[in-house]
Amino acid sequence: MKQYNVLKDIVLKRHEDQSLDLLSQPIDDLDTACLTHIEENGIKHALDLGGGAGKHSIRMAQAGARVTLIDRQDPSHNIQTVEEAGICSKGQINLVQTEFTDIDFDAIGTYDLVYSQRALNYLPYKDFMSLTEKLIDGLPPLGHFYLSVSGFDNEFGKTLDKRDMPLPERYGLPSEEMQKKHKIYTPTLVFKQEEIEGIMKDFGMEILSSSVSTFGNVKIIAVKV
Ligand SMILES: C[S@@+](CC[C@H](N)C(=O)[O-])C[C@H]1O[C@@H](n2cnc3c(N)ncnc32)[C@H](O)[C@@H]1O
Repeated sequence: MKQYNVLKDIVLKRHEDQSLDLLSQPIDDLDTACLTHIEENGIKHALDLGGGAGKHSIRMAQAGARVTLIDRQDPSHNIQTVEEAGICSKGQINLVQTEFTDIDFDAIGTYDLVYSQRALNYLPYKDFMSLTEKLIDGLPPLGHFYLSVSGFDNEFGKTLDKRDMPLPERYGLPSEEMQKKHKIYTPTLVFKQEEIEGIMKDFGMEILSSSVSTFGNVKIIAVKV
């Protein structure tokens, strides 16, 4: 896992009125929308699926939410750093180190928001679908889902060995060059924008925004209706 100077490179600074300065760290439009929603709506409990080093979990905690970070990796050193510096309170970020396929939802309890960037696409199609459905089932009405997934037209997606297959059979490996460049050594799905939009709608979500990043990943903000 990449090493960060957490307090300098991750933690958001605050304006004089104590609101978060969302321009004080390099975050993308999905992160900005998510943090604004948390601050403005007093979101209580947010899930971060595949949060890696914990960057966005830390920022969601700064925005006022209790956060459950679910990942097979252990970024507890970063969480400890922000707790010790008083950036968030002890226990505000709960780490659940597990495989996505083994999440104990009863232990997680109720939640109000789901966030996941560049992570759920590493699941095979059936697991992706059942986890996405489960995550949406657990959202309350008007609960928001902030999602990005690897795109069909991103740099490594264009080289995927299974690229020509329909989505359920598209779980494959990028070219060797792309595996090395992006450190992706396990299979991944790559999504067309209309495919991920369709999945979210089929599971009862309304799309609030949908875009393809410069890199080619698909980003969706959806609300449960
Ligand atoms: C590309 S990183 C994205 C990290 C962060 N969300 C970001 O956008 O910078 C993917 C993350 O998903 C986690 N991950 C991938 N597959 C997983 C699985 N099956 N179960 C648990 N975690 C998984 C990895 O450990 C990693 O932290």
